[in-house]
Amino acid sequence: MRLRRQVCEGLSGRVLEIGFGSGLNISAYPAAVASLDAVEPSEVGWALSAERRAAASVPIARVGLDGQRLAAADAAYDAVLTTFTLCTIPDVETALAEVRRVLRPGGSLHLLEHGLAPDPKVATWQRRLDGLQGRIAAGCHLVRDAPELARAAGFEVQRLEQAYLPGPGISKPWGFVSLAVATRP
Ligand SMILES: C[S@@+](CC[C@H](N)C(=O)[O-])C[C@H]1O[C@@H](n2cnc3c(N)ncnc32)[C@H](O)[C@@H]1O
Repeated sequence: MRLRRQVCEGLSGRVLEIGFGSGLNISAYPAAVASLDAVEPSEVGWALSAERRAAASVPIARVGLDGQRLAAADAAYDAVLTTFTLCTIPDVETALAEVRRVLRPGGSLHLLEHGLAPDPKVATWQRRLDGLQGRIAAGCHLVRDAPELARAAGFEVQRLEQAYLPGPGISKPWGFVSLAVATRP
């Protein structure tokens, strides 16, 4: 929750969350968030979020099922949030192009994602385990570098913090986390 609160810092206005899941970020939304649109393909995830949505102080609407194809008009949002989702969307480049399209100029992408580690030994294990991970974890990848993907999609990374989550060495392939805020020029 500490990381979720940190990545939500600065969210304001009309916000889109892609990969809403069970709504674990709801309690971290700042008061400046005026409305929250959610994209979530899983009926189970959406149902699990019901109680949290009911208790939320901000209106939350499910506006889509796929981050690769957003229904919103260009420049419709002030900010977009993703947590532990860019690892799973099949065509992440297309999803980030869509995020860029629906963000207003100056709007921000807030992301908290696990991904490719800087240590060669850990990265080697991530590459070895990536296929298996995809099969047992709903298409999740270990080798994506979310901040770099955001840069490649035309975002300017303003804030970047990266670290391993606490845990034994064997958990490192799953535990390298990036917290970033990137703006759409
Ligand atoms: C590991 S879960 C993270 C859920 C939530 N963001 C969190 O931090 O707890 C990955 C989420 O991505 C969603 N997802 C998978 N494919 C997606 C897609 N194409 N577009 C949007 N969300 C997707 C899954 O349904 C799931 O809710």
